[in-house]
Amino acid sequence: MKSAEQLDLEDALAPLRKSYDLPDDQCYLDGNSLGALSHAVKASIQEVVHREWGETLIGGWNSHGWLELPMRVGDKLGALLGASPGETLCCDNLSINLFKGLAAALELQAPRTKIVTEASHFPTDNYIAQGMAQLLGPERCEVVAVPQEDLGTTDLREVAVVSLAHVDFRTGACRDIAGITARAHDAGALVLWDLAHSAGVINPALKDNDVDMAVGCTYKFLNGGPGAPGFLYVAERLHTAANPLPGWMGHADLFAFESSYRPAPGIRRFLTGTQSVISMAAVEAALTVFEDVSIEALRAKSLALSDYFLTLLHEQPDTQELLCLTPREHSKRGSQISLRMPMGYPISQALIARGIIVDFREPDIVRFGFSPLYNTFAEVRAAVAELADILRTECYREARYQHRLTVT
Ligand SMILES: Cc1ncc(COP(=O)(O)O)c(C=O)c1O
Repeated sequence: MKSAEQLDLEDALAPLRKSYDLPDDQCYLDGNSLGALSHAVKASIQEVVHREWGETLIGGWNSHGWLELPMRVGDKLGALLGASPGETLCCDNLSINLFKGLAAALELQAPRTKIVTEASHFPTDNYIAQGMAQLLGPERCEVVAVPQEDLGTTDLREVAVVSLAHVDFRTGACRDIAGITARAHDAGALVLWDLAHSAGVINPALKDNDVDMAVGCTYKFLNGGPGAPGFLYVAERLHTAANPLPGWMGHADLFAFESSYRPAPGIRRFLTGTQSVISMAAVEAALTVFEDVSIEALRAKSLALSDYFLTLLHEQPDTQELLCLTPREHSKRGSQISLRMPMGYPISQALIARGIIVDFREPDIVRFGFSPLYNTFAEVRAAVAELADILRTECYREARYQHRLTVT
């Protein structure tokens, strides 16, 4: 097997790491949770605050195109997702966009009322669906949460919309977006995909796969910053759907201040209120790095990093017995490796103390995220070496690693 040095030397994407402001003493393997800060984002925030807001004040809405940011940034996101221009908005957050998408789908699919979701979906996805059922009542909305293993066989013939994650946040498993979407369509159901863990590392080919709706966030592999806005994709053929949160930003003539609502044509109708200009400008800047690299090249490097991680894990006597929850098959693997370890929390804390930044998900999962934009093979090797040492020495038993932090 090639050395980490050789792999880094041969990596055509390696120079991109210089675009990021990463601490020298850390191997940052948590881009699946919060992406790194790029120099472009830093500069953009300065520019927007000092020059755009500071110098032009209210005039910025006209002179700096602030009003168009959700559509402009949406199209840049759409290009990474295989969407056509005019089908993606950058706005709100994933949870709110999911609410809009599910409500729009239920309206389009009436008299069907069922939302099928996976029982182990990211909590917000299920909370939003449950909240919708409570709001609309059983005549208009019913949530059916099915175990993952039953998703392939669940009867969808009376289902309005299927709400699923492209990449599972716990296991890192990547779903067959084409196959599942086609199966749902055959039964007359729509599909809404949560792309939180795939946007920026896997092309979901939304148009080619005939996906109906999708939502995502920009703070993970897209590096938009903590709490950065989310996105909403709605296929053009569904732009007749109503926005359940019709606000003035989605009005056909927002500065006419009409007393009743008329939706704007196209994707804009899914806007609600005023968006955060500073945060959205940061997302726009974060996306510039993607102009010089294809999503396929990023996917290939992401898989190479996780392959290398798995190979090293297997070679080390201290790590080879660990239970890996992430599928080995490339088409079924996202951009993280999830290891199940009964002492997962203190082990994650011991790794972090040694500069290997990972995260932990209940009840016993340690996640290693691989961002092909900035992670190196040398970091992967360091992570496995430290993990092996932590397991061998059992230093994770020390009292200092047992304390539960709020964000794990
Ligand atoms: C898969 C998935 N869905 C939804 C969310 C929540 O998104 P937001 O808090 O931006 O609404 C997250 C957050 O990490 C996530 O990982």
